[in-house]
This record gives sequence, C-alpha cells and structure tokens, in this order.
Amino acid sequence: MEMRDFDFSQANAHDASSIFEKWKWVRHGSIHLDDGFTLIASRGGEIVGFISVQWRTLPAPLNGADEGFIDIIEVQESVRREGIGRRLIQMAQMRCRERKVYQLRAWSSEDKKEAIPMWHALGFGLCPATEYPKGQPVRGYFVAKPICSTQTEAVA
Ligand SMILES: CC(C)(COP(=O)(O)OP(=O)(O)OC[C@H]1O[C@@H](n2cnc3c(N)ncnc32)[C@H](O)[C@@H]1OP(=O)(O)O)[C@@H](O)C(=O)NCCC(=O)NCCS
Repeated sequence: MEMRDFDFSQANAHDASSIFEKWKWVRHGSIHLDDGFTLIASRGGEIVGFISVQWRTLPAPLNGADEGFIDIIEVQESVRREGIGRRLIQMAQMRCRERKVYQLRAWSSEDKKEAIPMWHALGFGLCPATEYPKGQPVRGYFVAKPICSTQTEAVA
C-alpha cells in the first residue's frame, strides 16, 4: 500500500456523521468543525483515519496565546504504520502555522503506548501528568510542539 492510495481532506458535517457511524465510541464534542478543524484520510470514499483540532486560548502565564489542541487522532488498525498519522499531524501543523498559534498540543492516557514513539518521531515533547476528567485520576502525558514564537509576547 502506498501513500498515494489515500486521500486527505478537510471534514464536513457529512464526514463527521460517517466518523460517528464507524467509530461509535467517539464523543460528538471531540469532532471540531466550527471551533477548530477536522482532517480525514480516506480510501475509496471510506474514512480510514482522522484528526480533530480545537482552537483554544491558553491561561496564564500564556495570557491570550492560542493553541491548536488535538482532541482526537485515530487511524483504522488495518492501515496503521503506513504514514497516515504522520501526514494528518503534519497537515494540522500547517494549519496551526497559518493561524500563527503558539503550539500544537494533545493529551494521551498512558495506555496509548503505540502513540509515544509517534510523538517522538514527529518532534513533540512529552510531559507526564495526571488529569481528573470526572474527578478520577487518569495518568498520561501531554505532548506539545512549538509553532509560532511571536505568540510568546503574550506571556505576562
Ligand atoms: C497513534 C496512531 C494515530 C498512529 O497512526 P499511524 O498512521 O499508524 O502512524 P504512522 O504510520 O504515520 O507513524 C508515524 C511514525 O510514528 C511511529 N509509530 C507509529 N506507530 C508506532 C508503533 N505502533 N510502534 C512504534 N512506532 C510507531 C513511527 O516512528 C512511525 O514512523 P515509521 O513507520 O516510518 O517508523 C495509531 O496507532 C492509532 O490510531 N492509535 C490509537 C489511537 C491513539 O493512540 N491516538 C493517539 C493518542 S490520543
């Protein structure tokens, strides 16, 4: 299988419905069309991978700086290790550069072991942390990659 077998494009509402149909566990709030963007990889009209990024404004000490937050990235198991994740993240980085945001960031729970070498390979820094999404501790790590340093002028 070669990379040219896959098409990459920006998702619309119809694509979002296809994602929810195929990946039933995906929360509707994780797919961003208006407050961010979603990119899809497809083959023969079928979505085989996607990334969804939300634009967020960072708190102090990054007062007012914006970031792209990867809410979800998922590649269908049968087509993993073919470069789709890499391409989706590179495309997301391009969008972040166009918007001149401070960084591209994501959260991953520690069970997502296969993602760790991918973040390393793509030049992201890993920051181990504990989150309390429903009051319960979830161990994992943030990953972040600087995009546009001029946004650091917003640092207090
Ligand atoms: C993580 C995930 C998105 C990677 O997608 P992918 O299309 O398989 O990734 P790529 O083929 O583009 O891999 C890019 C690089 O990452 C690294 N990598 C990716 N998966 C890897 C694995 N299972 N083991 C070791 N390295 C891996 C490699 O360096 C790879 O480059 P290479 O194949 O040239 O060596 C996919 O495994 C997935 O959907 N996992 C479940 C969801 C998840 O973990 N999401 C991320 C955390 S929120």
